[in-house]
Amino acid sequence: MIHVTATESDAVRAIEAEAVSSRFARGWHCLGLAETFKDGKPHTVHAFGQKLVVFTGADGKTNVLDGYCRHMGGDLSQGTVKGNEIACPFHDWRWGGDGRCKSIPYSRRVPLRARTAAWPTMEQDKLLFVWNDPEGKQPPADVRIPVIEGATRDDWTDWRWTEQVVHTNAREVIDNVVDMAHFFYIHKSFPTYFKNIFENQTATQIMKGVTREDARRAREGSGGGGPRMLGNTSVASYHGPSFMIDELTYHYEGYDLHSVLINCHYPIDENSFSLHSGIIVQHSDALPPEAAEATAAKLSEFILLGFQQDVEIWKNKTRIDNPLLCEEDGPVYQLRRWYEQFYVDAADVKPEMTDRFEFEIDTTRPVESWKKEVEENLARSEGASA
Ligand code: FES
Ligand SMILES: [Fe+2]
Repeated sequence: MIHVTATESDAVRAIEAEAVSSRFARGWHCLGLAETFKDGKPHTVHAFGQKLVVFTGADGKTNVLDGYCRHMGGDLSQGTVKGNEIACPFHDWRWGGDGRCKSIPYSRRVPLRARTAAWPTMEQDKLLFVWNDPEGKQPPADVRIPVIEGATRDDWTDWRWTEQVVHTNAREVIDNVVDMAHFFYIHKSFPTYFKNIFENQTATQIMKGVTREDARRAREGSGGGGPRMLGNTSVASYHGPSFMIDELTYHYEGYDLHSVLINCHYPIDENSFSLHSGIIVQHSDALPPEAAEATAAKLSEFILLGFQQDVEIWKNKTRIDNPLLCEEDGPVYQLRRWYEQFYVDAADVKPEMTDRFEFEIDTTRPVESWKKEVEENLARSEGASA
């Protein structure tokens, strides 16, 4: 009997996954709508593996401090805002937004080392951002989140904002940037063009798609109603590790609907994150203010449904460091190399993490196969209703 050595193609592929790091990404993270934190009360926010207190002083500035008082460990997020300071509920020590203890009402003097951790904050486009840096440095001036013009303009709706806790590591949501095929199978959309560009702090996904007729009919019934949506164009970029701005245009028969979608998150700990979505819609002749509001509400629901579809997969999948890819998959490894820049010390960021990288998927084969699948689904549902 002769034993044949297994050839490489016979070998079983093993799934590899290193332990998840408890270090959290360097960068601006959005905590949600700024006004949420302007009610004069302290807010508890679990982020970056810690409990934080977020409060807005009388001066209108929103501050983020470590949640635990350096005196005897009281929970500052259960305290009271007094002037520009947060007063601890335990013995009333007053902490300023810069992390320094400003006064102790029952004491003559504040101890010398009375300083706690403070996170830099920024408000832009009615959103609150907090800067996380494991090295404790201030945000470099050139690391910015682009301004979203529509967010403060009268001819756009206000933010429709949602948030939810997802119990997995945040890398899963980042992977979506390059994952064209899941948009068809999980989100019931139909990509026809798909390209990624990574450069410096930005990772972009450009996607064009057509309406998937089988999914539309399943949603709306065969009648539909309203103008027919033909497809969409999406240009979505992560700016830093967690804040994605998606310029999303829906093409209807006769007009385009312009929206900006935010897909952002902050890590709660290494195994969970807070996932947020925001949407604004531009008014137009075809879409006067009230109709735009209604559309924004509908789109917001639609985005939540999309998140739910992803969550269902994340809940049951395993972490994989060595995905096995085919030619029509996007550049998962290059994306993760880009993402790595936020997890190493600033001095250790390598050119391969930030150099410009472009990749366009050849969609010939996917489009052919997906067309067939949609047609088969339509024929089956027509057969069933006949
Ligand atoms: S523990 Fe905060 S004032 Fe004493
Ligand atoms: Fe997804």
